[in-house]
Amino acid sequence: MNNPERTSSRRGEIVAEATDIWKSYDGGRVEVLRGASVRVREGELVALWGASGSGKSTLLHLLGGLDTPDRGTLRVCGLDPRGERERLTLRRHLLGYVFQLHNLVPDLTVEENIRLPALALGASAKAMAARVRELAERVGLGHRLAHRVQDLSGGERQRAAICRALMNSPRVILADEPTGSLDEQTGETVFALLRELARSQKAAVVLCTHERRYAEACDQLLRMRAGRVEETR
Ligand SMILES: Nc1ncnc2c1ncn2[C@@H]1O[C@H](COP(=O)(O)OP(=O)(O)OP(=O)(O)O)[C@@H](O)[C@H]1O
Ligand SMILES: [Mg+2]
Repeated sequence: MNNPERTSSRRGEIVAEATDIWKSYDGGRVEVLRGASVRVREGELVALWGASGSGKSTLLHLLGGLDTPDRGTLRVCGLDPRGERERLTLRRHLLGYVFQLHNLVPDLTVEENIRLPALALGASAKAMAARVRELAERVGLGHRLAHRVQDLSGGERQRAAICRALMNSPRVILADEPTGSLDEQTGETVFALLRELARSQKAAVVLCTHERRYAEACDQLLRMRAGRVEETR
């Protein structure tokens, strides 16, 4: 997959930045990140690529304020995700998170799951329903809106999780293996959607992936190895 626009988005404002991040678990016995840094600009699609266990999800969690680093600085939309109020602002208004294990609510319907992030913002029911439908149709889930998540296939759940992350038109989208459980065609649709959002809404997208072809099609391909992030081009 080539990407003719690759160099054109490099000039945008930096919206997510992690600098010299260190993170270990188990009282220091499991050292995962050892001086990892990443910088993401608006309108840019960035791949975190690396072997299983290399720390991709860990770094994404830290950017999303789901965990805290031992050392290093984090900045997302000008806010530090470690602060409680800042984290709340990020979660409500600025960040969309696609979890590796999608974390949908199984006994709610697809529509109810996708709508969840908008409830806190007080949008009208009509506007929310239209937005849910628009997103679901873009990923081929329009016919599944009334189904409960527990009755969906793995790929359908993944697509619902992506719609939920996009519901509030976030400025930063953190997507952990968003194409991991999808067939090739659906994977391409989802990837194209993320790329289109980066371009049209100037969203910054950080995508963890094992799949080289998606990593290659991003604006930056960052390889995670030995607890650090290497820029490959
Ligand atoms: N809460 C935790 N406690 C202990 N170890 C952890 C914890 N979270 C992550 N790890 C360890 O940190 C390492 C990195 O995990 P991480 O989930 O970031 O890898 P990953 O690159 O996302 O892998 P994958 O491609 O399999 O999703 C792994 O060895 C994992 O076992
Ligand atoms: Mg992971």
